[in-house]
Amino acid sequence: MMDKVRIGIIGTGYIGNVHGRIYARNPRAEISALFDIIPERAELAAKSIGGRVCRSREELLENCDAVLVCTPNRTHKEIALAALDAGRHVFCEKPFAIGIEDAATLRDAADRSGRVFQVGHNRRFANVYQKLRSLIDEDKPHSAHIKMNRGELLNPSWTGDVEVTGGFLYETTIHLFDMMRFQFGEIEELVAYGSQHEYPELDEFSVIFKFRSGFHCTFASSSDASWHFPFERIEVFCHHRTIITEEMERLFDSRGTDANFETYAYHMVEKEERWGYSTEDDEFLSAVIDSHPPLVTAHDGFKSVELVESVYSAIRTGEKIRF
Ligand SMILES: NC(=O)c1ccc[n+]([C@@H]2O[C@H](COP(=O)([O-])OP(=O)(O)OC[C@H]3O[C@@H](n4cnc5c(N)ncnc54)[C@H](O)[C@@H]3O)[C@@H](O)[C@H]2O)c1
Repeated sequence: MMDKVRIGIIGTGYIGNVHGRIYARNPRAEISALFDIIPERAELAAKSIGGRVCRSREELLENCDAVLVCTPNRTHKEIALAALDAGRHVFCEKPFAIGIEDAATLRDAADRSGRVFQVGHNRRFANVYQKLRSLIDEDKPHSAHIKMNRGELLNPSWTGDVEVTGGFLYETTIHLFDMMRFQFGEIEELVAYGSQHEYPELDEFSVIFKFRSGFHCTFASSSDASWHFPFERIEVFCHHRTIITEEMERLFDSRGTDANFETYAYHMVEKEERWGYSTEDDEFLSAVIDSHPPLVTAHDGFKSVELVESVYSAIRTGEKIRF
């Protein structure tokens, strides 16, 4: 049985280094190979996290057991398919793919491969969202109001280029589309409105979701709302109870008919853990070493892409979408 997983990282920019630093400290992992189309970036990363700097993707694939796909959005499908073809386990950053067709192709290849395929929806592992899920499990949520804003689409520079991102919803909003399924289950229908202001694409969204359970929620997402805290918030309404999350920092739980509430604060937790990255990376190793399915599957990746595409389609056609 494998007890140490040799990790290869494709794309050694911001998030490639986040995962690289975490795996470099994990005794069950070894950073074995790095590849970036800008070789200086891989060389710089190697200085802090180690690993052989590869001159090609093929060289990287020959020198690892598992591949982290940490390149910009549009490249994920092709790189992840090449890694699966080479027989490697794959951790693919979000978004899983761009468009339903590519998402279905990648999901089917992942299912056929017999390898672990995990998608980078790190928020599922964040303290605040784990806590929300445990509170919801003990109660029955009725409805919610969700916000997922960004301050800009300028950094990294490709985040404003729809040819690379696939559209604003594929950037940060997709994290909370996945989060809705994680917290509230499968979605039955949606209506959506969108408009265009700061960037050359739809950049402002209002959506209403209805779930199979009868639960329903409103969802707002803006690309240019400033970075006002909390840019990300879920307010859940239950029987005489409101539970509110504020980014990955805090959760408030107010019960009963007076105004008292309990606060759970996570701001003292290291960001890598608070945002769920350390746990998601460790869970990926467990899935590879113990040969079990990952906690965020290719199917989950496909469903998040399906939600993004459905919202764009609802806005284009003005029609309600039923799943
Ligand atoms: N889960 C999260 O919280 C989170 C956070 C940030 C980014 N991301 C996702 O991770 C991905 C990377 O984002 P980032 O912020 O690290 O971007 P980045 O621009 O900082 O890094 C991307 C790196 O990939 C390299 N690259 C581009 N095309 C390549 C190719 N074909 N082969 C090899 N290397 C290539 C670039 O040179 C660059 O170094 C994006 O899809 C983004 O959506 C996820």
